[in-house]
Amino acid sequence: MCGIAGYIGPRNAVEVVYDQLKRLEYRGYDSAGVAYLNGGGTIHVVKRAGKLGELGKVLWDGDGTPESGGGPGGEGIDVPHLAIAHSRWATHGGPTDENAHPHFDRYGDVALIHNGIIENYLDLKGELAAAGHSFESETDTEVAAHVIGQEYAKGVPLEEAVRQAVRRMRGAFAFVAFSKRERDKFVAARNASPLIVGLGQGENMVASDIPALIPYTREVVAVEDDRIAVLERDGVRLMDLEGKPVPLESFHVDWDVEAAEKGGYEHFMLKEIHEQPDVIRGALAGRIDDKGRVRLDQVFGDHVWQDIDRVNIIACGTAYHAGLMGKFLFERLLQLPTDVFFSSEFRYGDPILSPKSLAVFVSQSGETLDSLAALRLCKQRRIRTLGVVNVVGSSIARECDRTVFTQAGPEISVASTKAYTAQCLVLMLLALHIAQVKETPGVRIDEAVADLRAFAEKAEVCLRLEDEVKALAERFKGAPLVFFLGRNADAHVAREGALKLKEIAYIPTQESPAGEMKHGPLALVEQGTLAIFGATDADVREKTVSNVREVQARGGFVVAVTTEGDDSLDGVAEAVLKVPASRSAYLNALLSVLPMQLFAYYVAKAKGCEIDQPRNLAKSVTVE
Ligand code: G6P
Repeated sequence: MCGIAGYIGPRNAVEVVYDQLKRLEYRGYDSAGVAYLNGGGTIHVVKRAGKLGELGKVLWDGDGTPESGGGPGGEGIDVPHLAIAHSRWATHGGPTDENAHPHFDRYGDVALIHNGIIENYLDLKGELAAAGHSFESETDTEVAAHVIGQEYAKGVPLEEAVRQAVRRMRGAFAFVAFSKRERDKFVAARNASPLIVGLGQGENMVASDIPALIPYTREVVAVEDDRIAVLERDGVRLMDLEGKPVPLESFHVDWDVEAAEKGGYEHFMLKEIHEQPDVIRGALAGRIDDKGRVRLDQVFGDHVWQDIDRVNIIACGTAYHAGLMGKFLFERLLQLPTDVFFSSEFRYGDPILSPKSLAVFVSQSGETLDSLAALRLCKQRRIRTLGVVNVVGSSIARECDRTVFTQAGPEISVASTKAYTAQCLVLMLLALHIAQVKETPGVRIDEAVADLRAFAEKAEVCLRLEDEVKALAERFKGAPLVFFLGRNADAHVAREGALKLKEIAYIPTQESPAGEMKHGPLALVEQGTLAIFGATDADVREKTVSNVREVQARGGFVVAVTTEGDDSLDGVAEAVLKVPASRSAYLNALLSVLPMQLFAYYVAKAKGCEIDQPRNLAKSVTVE
């Protein structure tokens, strides 16, 4: 996600924060900016869309590196000793110079950078606009800067203004701000987005992630939620949202740079699997209002939903599997006929498109060529299009009539994990939104929202299955073939589980609805063949148990993924993995993908495969 850097001390602060952003580049971003104080006490700001080099060119008037001279601290130019910098991965508003951070308050006194999402920014923006504020960007960050400025205008110190402002904001965010009126400090705040303080000798700094700090210090403080940090040259103070001091608890980091980028995990894939509880929170952020209603601002107006008679979901790979989940929900919940197409087939399949249909494009990268071409075909045919996309500013996001972002943060591992979970959640939000608009009988929005709100925690519990899964992976690392089976939504998730194993562990898989086994695939079951059953759906559990027996009767070894509280497979399957249950069959099935992702990961690891970059595959496929 976005990168944060801040520094105060004797070095050239702009060089330090620029270098810190460089060290966060691996996380992906689409614009960058820096603000610094010069000796005269003026704030300078430089922001550019594009890569850091673009910012560097403006800063140093050379080839984009500090060594090329000119710029802050260059010959005859003041060395700045306080700077903040940000690399932005667009969420609210496209990747433009204007939307890049830092942003300022109304009076130009306070500069602010921000990671995360401020859920109530539209309400705050409305209040500010009514009080005469105007805005230069489309970002929630600028709104936050104005809120801080409003508090600061009351004559309090900056930390107090930040503290009061944070109390007015909802969401998951981390801020760093400084003021030209208080030149010897900067202030940072955290609420659910990562923020790390680095402690130095006569210098202190802050960043969104440890790799940025490692060249400067290895003594770091992981700032907790609802804390404000005040950084001066000779010290750092922490306080809570009541303004009470909180002790600083630092720890020593001895990771090398590569390990630090992966957050201490051995591979990005494992890191991304573990990020899923936060990704769930991120996908829901700002999309459920105080009254427990789904709020999707980015979609069509209500009259359009009344008009739509059919949905076509078009996608590739993992995103296609998320599309299958979407079909399950749209038909179950809304009785809205839905088809799912592989983008590559859709293009040349001469699709029959009702003028009242909606085409939904699901894509992590937003750049997959087949999906983009299918989108252009729909546009030519004047079909309404909606994107469910992770990368803001990507081609699919730009070209769809409307786009809902999955807000999963950059995904680096080629095999998709967290993006899938976020895609499935956004499709659920979409289904609930339509149900709200159409007042679909029998849909309990309150219950669905309560289930969604509890989902991140359930994912956390689910990840505790890791050791059990690892032991199974060790046992089956030599498997020549693995079955992935299930019914209803479990069958769709099973396909995704199979894809993970194929992609990264190079093990052939047979994925099929469990009831279809007897029509062919069962012939492949031999003594010891592993079959992983998704068995979370209570409505068809008895049928699933029968299918388990069929596999076992041919010598198969069954691992069943079911829900806590269900004992129908205890003592039946050779191994049972239980995920926390909720009322929603959709969410139960979705949760079962986590142990399947972990299984693929640990099999690949046991086999010594190149996990993050599997052979023959690419993260973003921009060829036909
Ligand atoms: C590639 C990636 C997959 C991804 C698919 C679709 O095959 O390796 O992880 O699911 O493309 O990509 P998209 O960016 O459109 O979701």
